Amino acid sequence: MGATRIPEDTVEKIRKAVDIVDVINDYVTLKKQGRNYFGLCPFHGENTPSFSVSPDKQIYHCFGCGTGGNAFSFLMEIEGFQFPEAVRHLGEKVGIHLPQLDQSPAHQKSNRDREVMQQAHELLTKLYHHCLLNTDQGQQALAYLKDRGFDEETIKTYNLGYAPDSWEFASAFLAKRGFQLDQVEQAGLIGKREFDGKYFDRFRDRIMFPIFDAKGNAIGFGGRVLGKGEPKYLNSPETKIFNKSKTLYGFHLARPQIRLTQQAVLFEGYVDVTSAWRAGVKNGVATLGTSLTEEQAKILSRNAEGITICYDSDNAGVNAAFRAAEMFAQTDCLVKIAKMPDGLDPDDYIRKYGAEAFLTNVIGTSLTVMSFKMDYFRRGKNLQDEGERMQYIEEVLQEISTLKKAVERDHYLRQLANEFSLSLDALKQQQHQFYKQSQKKQDKPFEKRDNKARKNFYVQRLLPAFHNAERLLLAHMIRNIEIAEKVQEEIGGAFNIEEYSAVAAYLYAYYAEGNQPNISAFLERLHEPQLIKTASELAMLEINEDISDKELDDYMKQILIYPKKMQIEEKEKEKKEAERRQDFLTAAKIAMEIIEIKKTFTNK
Ligand code: UTP
Ligand code: MN
Repeated sequence: MGATRIPEDTVEKIRKAVDIVDVINDYVTLKKQGRNYFGLCPFHGENTPSFSVSPDKQIYHCFGCGTGGNAFSFLMEIEGFQFPEAVRHLGEKVGIHLPQLDQSPAHQKSNRDREVMQQAHELLTKLYHHCLLNTDQGQQALAYLKDRGFDEETIKTYNLGYAPDSWEFASAFLAKRGFQLDQVEQAGLIGKREFDGKYFDRFRDRIMFPIFDAKGNAIGFGGRVLGKGEPKYLNSPETKIFNKSKTLYGFHLARPQIRLTQQAVLFEGYVDVTSAWRAGVKNGVATLGTSLTEEQAKILSRNAEGITICYDSDNAGVNAAFRAAEMFAQTDCLVKIAKMPDGLDPDDYIRKYGAEAFLTNVIGTSLTVMSFKMDYFRRGKNLQDEGERMQYIEEVLQEISTLKKAVERDHYLRQLANEFSLSLDALKQQQHQFYKQSQKKQDKPFEKRDNKARKNFYVQRLLPAFHNAERLLLAHMIRNIEIAEKVQEEIGGAFNIEEYSAVAAYLYAYYAEGNQPNISAFLERLHEPQLIKTASELAMLEINEDISDKELDDYMKQILIYPKKMQIEEKEKEKKEAERRQDFLTAAKIAMEIIEIKKTFTNK
């Protein structure tokens, strides 16, 4: 943060004025339950809400993935903001405006760079669009598009353009407008010749598909050759403003419709998006020539409940669709896959069979991933043949055993039982067998269980006494200054778990400065994300705030005893080893040492 420091009392003012429930409500649907609010965690995939927000404490914590913090850390995590940006953003929300000048020169320059790059894209988008629609140079490109079924409205909606066949069309234009060409080069719009240092246009004689960010800023281009040629699409490289894994083609146009219907359609190609738009699919987006990333899946899942994947029907397309579907397994989106006839992509289909057919026969008949897979396994098999039929059933059962929801498993098991007149029980048994086999292969035992199970498991079985004692003690210390002082005096930093010891140290310092218990304010002292998570989790623990001195002492004792117990365990091992060697002298000596250690804590 360095030079970008915002005065602490301003941060304080904003923190007090902000309500974390308001802030998080912009991203997560929250329901009140007792004193807290609950919702589906935006940071990991889940079906049952374990993301909780406490209006009293002004913090959030997810019992599923362990993330947590205050309003500032929430924005930092979900928007990728730096701390000052998060403060500024929340300040705007509550009407406390921060002067621009507390930005560091480096930060200001970086913002200016981004702005210039976006301006260059915006100007070129307009220029290319103009070339396509209104100039002689653009006639051939326009004819090509019209020939492919594009109408003027689509061309205008997507701001399609034409980059003339020239080495210095864009570079000369931007230079004349006062742009510095090294910056334009960094924006990926032009290249630099090595031998004479001259700049040249990257996009020449291509149909230009501008790529916009979610706010509608042009940040990159995909340029298609007219007709045949290599590469078919030339794309902008990744730049400061263009991150391919976080961008979806068409998203800024589709977003209103996606939010309205809670449905999105995912395509593979730019032209599929534009053709589908013409056919009436206004909620279509596409990846940018790469397979769907986790970030893209998250963007969609934050905006829609259902996703229809509409990829090519060839093998590569089907496999890509499965991979994309898997990306959504981490979200709570319902995923469907649209079936395209062999050899056609969505744009081909629309041109061949029309918009109506596309809507009803493709989008309208999309299948759940499971049904789609069943369909896929069936291909090329003769189900009249017993061997092939058994193979098919096995493949389907394997797939069913990966489904998380019992209702879903039941649904497909029944379907299978009906279709092949098999006993449902036998199928269930076999499916369970597959499930157990797959579980054995997996070391991560909680991946498939729900969060409550995980939580209970930890609390009841995994935590040794000392660990539990450290958690509960800290939970009390965060709420109660006297308890914190007492613990500081008696055990200081003797927490066995490093993170807890660190939280305790910060807490002592926080109180020593005369601050009152306030978890949200305290979290600002903790600069490491992991500590913020840990502290908010501890603050969210449900504890009985009346704690007797005896209980307090017990907890502290557990903490102090633990390292000694470990020491004793170690010594016991050494003793046994000595006895095995028949070295009774050493064994006796160790036994004495053990007694000495035991004395130090039984006396207390
Ligand atoms: P396709 O080859 O399926 O092209 O690539 P398309 O979308 O059907 O385009 P048309 O109909 O032939 O004009 C799908 C997507 O993969 C990326 C582009 O994003 C394209 O839309 N791609 C493809 C590239 O980035 N570069 C290429 O050379 C080809
Ligand atoms: Mn195509």
